[in-house]
Amino acid sequence: MAAIRSSSALLLGAAASRPALRTAVTSSTAAAVRGMAQVADAAQQTATSSEKPRLKTFQVYRWNPDKPTEKPRMQSYTLDLNKTGPMVLDALLRIKNELDPTLTFRRSCREGICGSCAMNINGTNTLACLCRIPKEDNSDVKIYPLPHTYVIKDLVPDLTHFYKQYKSIKPYLQRDTPAPDGKEYRQSKEDRKKLDGLYECILCACCSTSCPSYWWNSEEYLGPAILLQSYRWLADSRDERKAERKAALNNSMSLYRCHTILNCTRTCPKGLNPGLAIAQIKKELAF
Ligand code: SF4
Ligand code: SF4
Ligand code: FES
Repeated sequence: MAAIRSSSALLLGAAASRPALRTAVTSSTAAAVRGMAQVADAAQQTATSSEKPRLKTFQVYRWNPDKPTEKPRMQSYTLDLNKTGPMVLDALLRIKNELDPTLTFRRSCREGICGSCAMNINGTNTLACLCRIPKEDNSDVKIYPLPHTYVIKDLVPDLTHFYKQYKSIKPYLQRDTPAPDGKEYRQSKEDRKKLDGLYECILCACCSTSCPSYWWNSEEYLGPAILLQSYRWLADSRDERKAERKAALNNSMSLYRCHTILNCTRTCPKGLNPGLAIAQIKKELAF
């Protein structure tokens, strides 16, 4: 766990040693750019409101693919929390709408359902829409893209490979036997219950991008998110391809690169347990 919870600088230090990864930012770069901090509200709002401003600075990773020779940098923005919603996504939306329309990030549902606002906030992979802005201290909020991903722009990671891996496990019901009533594939309440803790996964990739094994072996190792999804179909009583699904995982790389470090389970913003799902697959393969 030390690896993911260590400061982003540590994560980025590791990334910097791999030229292909573009999530590298040095603290000196960050310090230099801090001079460019933009203050959204301070002067204007004290003039219009008697409420004492509660200023908070957000340091945000910036990288522009249209200027590929420019190194990634951190950019600071300061907001008055009296005028900002409670979540980090609220702050990012305010920055984009009122300070800097060039800031790029993904978001859609703003309620923890779509998984698109996954990013690294203060050293932890999480969903910006479910992450409260820390108010108890004066420290800056540091926001980076998901670690060890290729960056498309600013906070947007390239998840093409992640989705390709998802497709590879055939994440849909496979069976030949027709439904008894010709309409629905029924399931007992007990069998349906076996899918709890699995079907809720929103494929945000927070867990996989926090997993050291996935950082170093992502070409072949499926990683915790895709393995949890694999188990979701293995555990489904209606599916008739259990043997094929198990055979596809029974090799040295797809599954067994998991070393039970459990970063995945600690970081999941939906409270799921990919580590347990992986253990269940290993048990199924062993017996
Ligand atoms: S298991 Fe959790 S962290 Fe991993 S992809 Fe699913 S919802 Fe996201
Ligand atoms: S338990 Fe396995 S999948 Fe989860 S972080 Fe550790 S090595 Fe990765
Ligand atoms: S915006 Fe959909 S999960 Fe955050």
